[in-house]
Amino acid sequence: MANFLAFWLALSSAAFITGSLADNMMPPKVVCYYDSRSYIRETQAKMLPSDLDPALPYCTHLIYGYAGIDAATHKMVSLNTGLDLDQGHANYRVITQLKRKFPALKILLSVGGDADTEGTEKYLTLLETPEARVAFINSAVVILKNYGFDGIDLAWEFPKVKPKKIRGSLGSFWHGFKKVFTGDSILDEKAEEHKLGFTKLVQELKNAIRPDNFLMTASVLPSVNSTHYFDTHSIMNYLDFIILDAYDYYTPERNPKQADYPAPLYELHERNPELNVDSIVTWWVRNAVPSYKLVLGIPTYARTWKMTSDSEGAGVPPITVDGPAPEGPYTKQAGLLSFPEVCSKLTNPNNQKGLHTHLRKVTDPSKRFGTYAFRVADDNDEGGIWVGYEDADTTGNKAAYVKAKGLGGIAINDLSLDDFRGLCSGDKFPLLRAAKYRL
Ligand SMILES: *[C@@H]1O[C@H](CO)[C@@H](O)[C@H](O)[C@H]1NC(C)=O
Repeated sequence: MANFLAFWLALSSAAFITGSLADNMMPPKVVCYYDSRSYIRETQAKMLPSDLDPALPYCTHLIYGYAGIDAATHKMVSLNTGLDLDQGHANYRVITQLKRKFPALKILLSVGGDADTEGTEKYLTLLETPEARVAFINSAVVILKNYGFDGIDLAWEFPKVKPKKIRGSLGSFWHGFKKVFTGDSILDEKAEEHKLGFTKLVQELKNAIRPDNFLMTASVLPSVNSTHYFDTHSIMNYLDFIILDAYDYYTPERNPKQADYPAPLYELHERNPELNVDSIVTWWVRNAVPSYKLVLGIPTYARTWKMTSDSEGAGVPPITVDGPAPEGPYTKQAGLLSFPEVCSKLTNPNNQKGLHTHLRKVTDPSKRFGTYAFRVADDNDEGGIWVGYEDADTTGNKAAYVKAKGLGGIAINDLSLDDFRGLCSGDKFPLLRAAKYRL
């Protein structure tokens, strides 16, 4: 009898904790973003859905980006109907049909993601009225159902914090600066209302998708202050997981005069202590979100700045620069390079204008900040470049961090800027694979 009782107690307490334990014990998630804007790049950088195949055995989730919002109707819409919808290239359907080949893969459609660039205040006004939220929710459910997605990712476009200016002259910057960061400027007078509206959107959307068992996730976009917009206690139980896009802390657009590590894992000496991976992860954990629900975003691209004769020649960040470096040969966007573009600049001497040699790569044995590469400007003040990027080591370190902290997994953003052709070393998707390996 005593034995029976003990057995019964063990059984019932096991049943009691199953809910959280089941999630807790899940294998780590490898969330792979596919940004469809890569479809319209040229030559080597053009990525078709069929190029995803070698990545997908490593991915547990594929997130197709990005849908947008129609400002007038508040409906979720395709941002490129010719690409996404059936009358065009039917990408939505092509993507969801990848499940035939990869049956375990969950495929989500993401909305926002900083890809919807027209009048982003519509992301705030939508949150203000029940009618607008209903219009969005109904349209989203129709799209998910019609195209066979497994769920939706809310990469909501909240206002970004302004880069904080460094006070005083550059001289004082180097000499033990005390209070270098100016106060938080007010970006959104109605932030409280929008936080509440987002909570309602999450809860109402969950109710609408519950019958179909769709997944729902949120992506916290770079430079959005979580404190202002995410009521963690009220939303966490409705979301399957939350992706922290903990990168782009420094970008050539936001910080044109000073280059620094774009996505450090830990706090750097004499920098804003909030601008690193560990700081945002800690914030979410402190605000009661179970760590297994947090997925760490890892970028596959580099941020690049122009080094000039005014730049400190040693290349050590933070470093004085002059805006975004010129565009890459394939991605064609100033201030940005894909991983294979960085790789070719490292290994291929004389890849530019004869005179300029390859970049010097500086790794980070402390595994805390990141990798960078640079080339000082020549005598004509040309050819200087400073590149902050992720390589196989740093993505692996971030995955190891995720594992050590018991987080839910990693999110690779995005597959199109990883070396999906294997141009660098012959291996396709080296960053995705390096991260997955350390998870
Ligand atoms: C986010 O907002 C909080 C509260 O206003 C503030 O204390 C914090 O410094 C902000 N963080 C960033 C990175 O701006």
